[in-house]
Amino acid sequence: MNIQLKLLPYSLFLLLLSSATLISPSLGALGKCNPSDYKALMNIKKSLNNPYHLASWVPNTDCCNWYVVECDPNTNRINQLTVFQGNISGQIPSSVGDLPYLETLVFRHLANVTGSIPQSITKLKHLKMLRLSWTNLSGPIPNFLNQLTTLTYLDLSFNQFSGSIPPNLSDLKNLGTLHLDRNKLTGSIPESFGNFAASIYLFLSHNQLSGPIPKSLGDLDSEVLDLSRNILVGDASTLFKPNHTVARTIDLSRNQLEFDLTKVKFPKSLTSLDISHNKIFGGIPEDIIGLDLQLLNVSYNRLCGQIPTGGKLRSFDNTSFFHNRCLCGPPLVGCKQ
Ligand SMILES: *[C@@H]1O[C@H](CO)[C@@H](O)[C@H](O)[C@H]1NC(C)=O
Ligand SMILES: *[C@@H]1O[C@H](CO)[C@@H](O)[C@H](O)[C@H]1NC(C)=O
Ligand SMILES: *[C@@H]1O[C@H](CO)[C@@H](O)[C@H](O)[C@H]1NC(C)=O
Ligand SMILES: *[C@@H]1O[C@H](CO)[C@@H](O)[C@H](O)[C@H]1NC(C)=O
Ligand SMILES: *[C@@H]1O[C@H](CO)[C@@H](O)[C@H](O)[C@H]1NC(C)=O
Ligand SMILES: *[C@@H]1O[C@H](CO)[C@@H](O)[C@H](O)[C@H]1NC(C)=O
Ligand SMILES: *[C@@H]1O[C@H](CO)[C@@H](O)[C@H](O)[C@H]1NC(C)=O
Repeated sequence: MNIQLKLLPYSLFLLLLSSATLISPSLGALGKCNPSDYKALMNIKKSLNNPYHLASWVPNTDCCNWYVVECDPNTNRINQLTVFQGNISGQIPSSVGDLPYLETLVFRHLANVTGSIPQSITKLKHLKMLRLSWTNLSGPIPNFLNQLTTLTYLDLSFNQFSGSIPPNLSDLKNLGTLHLDRNKLTGSIPESFGNFAASIYLFLSHNQLSGPIPKSLGDLDSEVLDLSRNILVGDASTLFKPNHTVARTIDLSRNQLEFDLTKVKFPKSLTSLDISHNKIFGGIPEDIIGLDLQLLNVSYNRLCGQIPTGGKLRSFDNTSFFHNRCLCGPPLVGCKQ
């Protein structure tokens, strides 16, 4: 057989392939990729000035094979967009709102991502995780986030968000974790935050939140409650409820809190308590001995009296207790009679 005849089927195949990709991209070139998702992703790439980080997003190829995104194995719709540690600058493209089946949206560790959160994300009716952190987003936290009612995880930490926290956020009834820490938030903690799901992990630390802690927060049984490094004042004793069963970590350190610790009834579930650097007075309640504490810090307050002895308290050195008005007994110096 002559060589040209032998090659004929192969060249025919090549011809078909190139016409399929060059002339009619819609016929097969996108593979499993939904054309509408494809279009949205192309718009995202363009808005971000075609960054190297999205080099795998090659035009007229199957977006289900691209990096940074994921397709649902059954519907083939894009359900994840996770942009992490790339050399990307500019704003979060509003076209992220055109990926209607997104469940996870992440922009993380991107120092050059600035601006605000696009309102278009309220179109994402399946969004469970929204994580925009270690970016340089600024301005107020938008109150339209309350429309993302399917969210279970919201992380806006390590940004430049300022202004007060929208009370509206408590509309997010399915939220299991809220990270607003490491921003420049001011104003008080909304009273409405008592309406969150009881066991929510709540991180509001490293802001400039002021005023008293709303009593409603005591209605929560937060597994983790971190209000440290703000300028909160007044009574925080209402956060401690003996009938709480989930509360594990409470960090109120470095605020201006002022209340009598003697009267506090700790939940049995508590394993980590940091109330250091406040203006807390009274003494350490005896029933603290019954707790299975891994961490305790009551230093830099105005406490007095004998440190209870026994239980886990033996495992803490004097740095857990020092710089108080007149706390005494081991591991500090003995009490004067
Ligand atoms: C941020 O942008 C500046 C200026 O273009 C650039 O030098 C720097 O590498 C970028 N950083 C990151 C983490 O992308
Ligand atoms: C990031 O990209 C900018 C231009 O787009 C470039 O000037 C800079 O060197 C890059 N930085 C890194 C860390 O690659
Ligand atoms: C925000 O930008 C500043 C200055 O460009 C940079 O030093 C800082 O690391 C950025 N923040 C984050 C969280 O990346
Ligand atoms: C709650 O959020 C909506 C937008 O989603 C806004 O129109 C409304 O005014 C907000 N309400 C309050 C009390 O902030
Ligand atoms: C815990 O006790 C408080 C009164 O101190 C009460 O209002 C609240 O309903 C109780 N919570 C649970 C879960 O029993
Ligand atoms: C804490 O203990 C260390 C060593 O155990 C001791 O050197 C130090 O003086 C103590 N400080 C206070 C304030 O008791
Ligand atoms: C308690 O907090 C003080 C003040 O921040 C710190 O110096 C000390 O090391 C801490 N001790 C423990 C055991 O965490």
